Amino acid sequence: MEKLSKISKIFNKLYYNIFVESFKKKLHFNFPSNYFRWDLIQYLISKNKYSDYLEIGCDQDQLFSKIKIENKIGVDPYSGGNVRKTSDDFFKDNKKKFDIVFIDGLHTYNQVKKDILNSLDCLKEGGIVLVHDCMPDSLSKQAVPRYRMIWNGDVWRAIVDLRHREDLEIFTCEMDQGIGIIKKETNSSILKIQKPVIKLKFKDYFDNYKKYLRVISVEEFKKKY
Ligand SMILES: C[S@@+](CC[C@H](N)C(=O)[O-])C[C@H]1O[C@@H](n2cnc3c(N)ncnc32)[C@H](O)[C@@H]1O
Repeated sequence: MEKLSKISKIFNKLYYNIFVESFKKKLHFNFPSNYFRWDLIQYLISKNKYSDYLEIGCDQDQLFSKIKIENKIGVDPYSGGNVRKTSDDFFKDNKKKFDIVFIDGLHTYNQVKKDILNSLDCLKEGGIVLVHDCMPDSLSKQAVPRYRMIWNGDVWRAIVDLRHREDLEIFTCEMDQGIGIIKKETNSSILKIQKPVIKLKFKDYFDNYKKYLRVISVEEFKKKY
């Protein structure tokens, strides 16, 4: 994972809190303590007999090494996985199709949106795209530029943005930092908000995250998929 110097942390924190937003309240989520991203992915692989897995952002293979499937590709420019590239470079040359993609690379709105759209382009019929880190509980965990190590970034904006599309059915599962679930199906609940996504503040997310992200529990998820 990229290093964050002490000076960047201090500078970014001051910059964010003075020029972007300062907001102290924290959200309290009900993330299960015994069900994690690898459980959800393995559940989907078994249930749908998936054979091709792609992970964007692998770090120390905390997840990648656990996934049992016929074919797996893990993309990371620095460590882990089996392809040493940025996601953009990978998708530029990729000709393979995948059943399930887990996006967990650079946690910024623009990059995650690109990773989602590129993943959808190489998704097999019936496939699914999962997006990690959709539910930051505090402003410091979502601030871009980043100023702390435990960081979700503003991945949530990519989910809010794509929830406007008619051809994508999107939920967010309340587990393991919030996992976005994206299928190429008719959107049964189009999100309508007036402000451009980039203008939304953490306070807007704090007040509306259940509606913005269409949050569901693991049990509800398993009833649907
Ligand atoms: C949070 S870690 C991934 C953790 C892992 N997926 C897991 O479940 O534990 C994020 C990773 O994304 C990688 N990364 C950063 N920028 C990237 C990019 N442009 N494309 C792909 N991966 C990127 C980092 O090197 C880092 O290892």
